[in-house]
Amino acid sequence: MATETENLDKCFQVVSDIVQKAGDLIASRFWKSKNVKQKLSDIDFVTETDQEVEKLLIDTLTAEFPHHRFIGEEATSEGAKCELTDSPTWIIDPVDGTLNFVHSFPHSCISIALLVNKQAEIAIIFNPVLKQLFTARRGKGAFYNGDPIHVSDKKDLSQALVMAEFGTSRDDKKLDITLDNFRKITQACHGTRSLGSAALNMAHVALGGADVNFEFGIHAWDVAAGDLIVREAGGVVLDPSLGPLDLMSRRVLCASSLELAIEFSKLITQYYPEPRD
Ligand code: IPD
Repeated sequence: MATETENLDKCFQVVSDIVQKAGDLIASRFWKSKNVKQKLSDIDFVTETDQEVEKLLIDTLTAEFPHHRFIGEEATSEGAKCELTDSPTWIIDPVDGTLNFVHSFPHSCISIALLVNKQAEIAIIFNPVLKQLFTARRGKGAFYNGDPIHVSDKKDLSQALVMAEFGTSRDDKKLDITLDNFRKITQACHGTRSLGSAALNMAHVALGGADVNFEFGIHAWDVAAGDLIVREAGGVVLDPSLGPLDLMSRRVLCASSLELAIEFSKLITQYYPEPRD
């Protein structure tokens, strides 16, 4: 019987191969017009590519690992259960940054993580247009296009580059808090960036290019891969109130250091999204 490590080696190989194929599919559609449908709001979209990529990933992984479970953004939108158990579970965002994809703004990615006993073991974030591949395995470090990466050495918010998003909800209360937080952050740090992909934001913290990323309103599939990649690159991933990250809470804060996360958390106004708003 294969050991757990051998199994994880195989999982990593299989998922790496299929992510490249899925990336080719996204890249081949990227500059063309898309068939777009609305989901929960008029800025929350799904395209046929999101659905095809998710199906390709799930079908391939199921054929190799029939007992594995899945939490996929598009299947969940169509009513599948979003339930994390101790079983090996792949958490998948087939196209994170769908709005960017719809506009052909080249900042979208596949985000996929394997959790076993609710612990992340494997994570991949891949922007197939700019060929940016971020990978991590628990205890083995984080990599960008095959080279090891590390978070920045920033510990002081006044020196930090912060990534944050408005999200896909038009809810007035959430927008008020988000805009107020953007004002406070912009006054406190070097600069703010909002590029439209929660997963790539986290990957850029892992890379050391950005120092903090936070958002209220994300989902498990937006952050499951980024969580492992940031931690393996030496950063911290927490709830914005500084408690442990809860993938189902729709809240995330990651930073290159705990000092930065603490300073950031004290600055912002907290918001607790509904499970689906
Ligand atoms: C969205 C993006 C966006 C973030 C939203 C996410 P999607 O994911 O990551 O940056 O602000 O909260 O839902 O819908 O493009 O997969």
